[in-house]
Amino acid sequence: MTHNLLKGKKGIIFGALNDKSIAWKVAEKAVEEGATITLSNTAMAIRMGDFEKLGEQLQAEVIPADATSVEDLETVFRRSMEVLGGPVDFVLHSIGMSPNVRKKRTYDDLDYNMLSKTLDISAISFHKMLQTAKKMDAIAEYGSVLALSYVAAQRTFFGYNDMADAKSLLESIARSFGYIYGREKNVRINTISQSPTPTTAGSGVKGMEHLMDFANKMSPLGNASADECADYCVMMFSDFTRKVTMQNLYHDGGFSSMGMSLRAMNQYSKSLDEYTDENGHIIYG
Ligand SMILES: NC(=O)c1ccc[n+]([C@@H]2O[C@H](COP(=O)([O-])OP(=O)(O)OC[C@H]3O[C@@H](n4cnc5c(N)ncnc54)[C@H](O)[C@@H]3O)[C@@H](O)[C@H]2O)c1
Repeated sequence: MTHNLLKGKKGIIFGALNDKSIAWKVAEKAVEEGATITLSNTAMAIRMGDFEKLGEQLQAEVIPADATSVEDLETVFRRSMEVLGGPVDFVLHSIGMSPNVRKKRTYDDLDYNMLSKTLDISAISFHKMLQTAKKMDAIAEYGSVLALSYVAAQRTFFGYNDMADAKSLLESIARSFGYIYGREKNVRINTISQSPTPTTAGSGVKGMEHLMDFANKMSPLGNASADECADYCVMMFSDFTRKVTMQNLYHDGGFSSMGMSLRAMNQYSKSLDEYTDENGHIIYG
């Protein structure tokens, strides 16, 4: 069922890779709700993914860009304004990648060049996007910008590694830039902190299946799906949230406010053996 929440609005969606991607669902839903959009991802992702298909389905131009390159971002905003006919009303940053996670470097053995890449791709690209858009005056008054985050920005999760640092920085950028862009142009900037979700990026996290099950058992409403995240993004792009800015908004079925649930306690009590290493020493943590 559509509500025409984005009727007449224009937007840019960064980060749709395949039909599991959160950005893919947001792109579909935004168009369903009346928006016209452009899509962007790296040239490699466009080659590898089913991207062209999505572009055709949504009648959206696909603009290749590495989100760490200011020059590429300028191209995306310039071209989007050309094809959409003026400044955009919403932007989604749905981008994340950690070479340390990919190469299985643990948090106490990080490669610092890789850490720089993690931060650049997953967080600083958001600043680059905002700064580029502001300089080009590419976002309309009361425009809405969203980036996707995870609760590991606030709490430590085994295996989330340097992505936790990237998410903390991402959320901080939303606040710092939200102040300036809000004051000067009424543009709102928020992050949505999403439940663990089975996507390509999600599957890179160590123990993802168990993490998803744990989060699901802990959350009174269960994990939020990518489709449900898209609904929330559409609402945040709509005129119904015009005074929401500089927030990290949890979209996680209640997980972030829980300490222990009956379902998780029940699962935990099924195996109370201590976790030991190969020498029989107890591992805490
Ligand atoms: N899946 C989860 O459990 C989960 C939970 C909370 C937040 N998130 C966040 O949601 C966002 C989207 O991830 P997803 O889960 O849909 O996975 P995904 O793998 O479908 O999307 C990640 C995207 O980032 C793009 N990307 C990587 N490097 C890039 C670069 N240099 N320039 C431009 N794009 C680049 C990829 O091509 C891909 O499209 C990420 O920020 C992720 O951290 C995911």
